Amino acid sequence: MSESPRRSLHTPEEFNEMYSGTPPWDIGRPQPTFQALADAGEFRGHVLDIGCGTGEHTLMAAQRGLEAVGIDSSPAAVEIAKRKARERGLNIRFLVHNALDLASIGEQFDTVLDSGLFHVFSDEHRAAYVESLKAVTRPGARYFMLCFSEHQPGDFGPRRVTQQEIRQSFSDGWRIESIEMKKLETNLGQEGIIAWLVRITKEVD
Ligand SMILES: C[S@@+](CC[C@H](N)C(=O)[O-])C[C@H]1O[C@@H](n2cnc3c(N)ncnc32)[C@H](O)[C@@H]1O
Repeated sequence: MSESPRRSLHTPEEFNEMYSGTPPWDIGRPQPTFQALADAGEFRGHVLDIGCGTGEHTLMAAQRGLEAVGIDSSPAAVEIAKRKARERGLNIRFLVHNALDLASIGEQFDTVLDSGLFHVFSDEHRAAYVESLKAVTRPGARYFMLCFSEHQPGDFGPRRVTQQEIRQSFSDGWRIESIEMKKLETNLGQEGIIAWLVRITKEVD
């Protein structure tokens, strides 16, 4: 598989530095597409928000009474997320943790949220990430992902992801339920990013 020509592969250190300000994706509320999924009752059980940033999706799940854990490699982001949880009176675990080593969390999840993480990985790390996901998802667990699509013009921001790449990444042990074109909001402007909203279920062995 060749690398997408349009890509921005930040290191964890670079991501961490971006949280000294407000990064473009940090809109201070859940992505509307994830909010709609939550409103439709699609999140259930034990929830893991991977690459949680400052925690809005983890907080949203916890506000709905779900036991939610948020992880991010950025200590600065996790610190902000913890502060928000305290301010909102929510008991949530936010951990500084690498998404490529989810097994070491030592827990199994029913719902996994990924808003803007999948598209940050190189091809090699993308494959490792999917294996890492397998280790922490129960059979029948659902993975919801929002990523930049190849229909987004320009070459700023992360690499673009095609439907075919998504299907290839999740071809073994997963069932793709839907891939829909949606908007990923940023704080850069009104129009948003042309994104894929993906629903995937971990197959029952
Ligand atoms: C585009 S941001 C999205 C943040 C958040 N989900 C949101 O919607 O605001 C991607 C996040 O993934 C985190 N990240 C990048 N590589 C990671 C890794 N290997 N393990 C865990 N988090 C990672 C970054 O620190 C950043 O917070």
